[in-house]
Amino acid sequence: MNIINARLRGKPGLHRIEMEGSRISAIVAQAQPMQASLPAELDAGQNLVTAPFVEPHIHLDATLTAGEPNWNMSGTLFEGIERWAERKALVTHQDTKSRARKTIDMLVDNGIQHVRTHVDVTDPSFAALRAMLEVRDESRHLIDLQIVAFPQEGIESFKNGRALMTEAVAMGADVVGGIPHFENTREQGVTSVKFLMDLAERTGCLVDVHCDETDDAQSRFLEVLAEEARVREMGERVTASHTVAMGSYDNAYCYKLFRLLKQSRINFVSCPTESIHLQGRFDGYPKRRGLTRVAEIDRAGMNICFGQDSIVDPWYPLGNGNILRILEAGLHICHMLGYEDLQRALDLITDNSARTLQLGDRYGLEVGRPANLLILSAADDYEMIRSQGQVLTSIRDGKLLMQRSPAQVTRFPA
Ligand code: FE2
Repeated sequence: MNIINARLRGKPGLHRIEMEGSRISAIVAQAQPMQASLPAELDAGQNLVTAPFVEPHIHLDATLTAGEPNWNMSGTLFEGIERWAERKALVTHQDTKSRARKTIDMLVDNGIQHVRTHVDVTDPSFAALRAMLEVRDESRHLIDLQIVAFPQEGIESFKNGRALMTEAVAMGADVVGGIPHFENTREQGVTSVKFLMDLAERTGCLVDVHCDETDDAQSRFLEVLAEEARVREMGERVTASHTVAMGSYDNAYCYKLFRLLKQSRINFVSCPTESIHLQGRFDGYPKRRGLTRVAEIDRAGMNICFGQDSIVDPWYPLGNGNILRILEAGLHICHMLGYEDLQRALDLITDNSARTLQLGDRYGLEVGRPANLLILSAADDYEMIRSQGQVLTSIRDGKLLMQRSPAQVTRFPA
């Protein structure tokens, strides 16, 4: 299959992309627009062709459960954890698999082909983890799925938390998670980070920690995680998700912290719609936005990307799988509508996220790499955001995975 009349990010002019089997075999500059001549030739219509979108942070085991059995009435993160504990008692193997599959379909329909999901392993039966390990295998034709062993109710403050984490990794989780700000004491938060970094180092797993997901300016586990990553030289394999307390840190502390963060080389994930909804709940006015310092992290040359976190679950009642919606909201919330930010906005849901997931040469629009790519509905990043553009075509392993027909508007004379 070939694609003609493609615009590529960061390259002038039009290009033809050739695929052989499941690989990209050639990318050739076109002197002028071409007419499709072969049946297996797709016309990008002078729109952007990119590598697939990446979902770096979602909870597929919790999606599509909002209101079951009770709604989160306060809208807080902590009530969300309480409501999830009730729903978790009702989780079955089939229930988890069918909700995860429905959600993966939503992601695929929006051009996502790489997903990192956190799966709650504070459950001695591992019902959700067993189900998600099967979903990972059964969904390979749609997405590449990384599973995080996520201790929703704590490692140190949940019974047998350490053993459950160790077992989850032995069962096949790809990534070690954590939630130090939720542990009962500050000391438990610190020891939980050391434990999870030991586990990852020993097993070769990646790390992705729910870190300081609270407006509490005293929540300072990011410095612990970054220092552990720096000393062990594991930074590129480590991700700090949320870090929303950084939005409440004072500038003097943050200035010092940034030096360590840069040295550590860790990655960051922000979930802007989730955080703007869950945080600031204990504030009067002025009310904090409750996000990490996305623009500052980006401008300091560190790696940060956006994720959806939730789709219709106890923490967030909305969501439809469209990560472009998260990108647009995030750019607004993070004061990133400047011209230069808009020119490279798609980095936040493509290349930066791929780096977070350590996809390496399994990702990217280059000859020899997998023939996984998208045709978008606009010619550049700025126009994709402004026009609320869509994914028109998704190709995986050189084959069509999804095509969308854009809505048509008909105007009538007065
Ligand atoms: Fe999360």
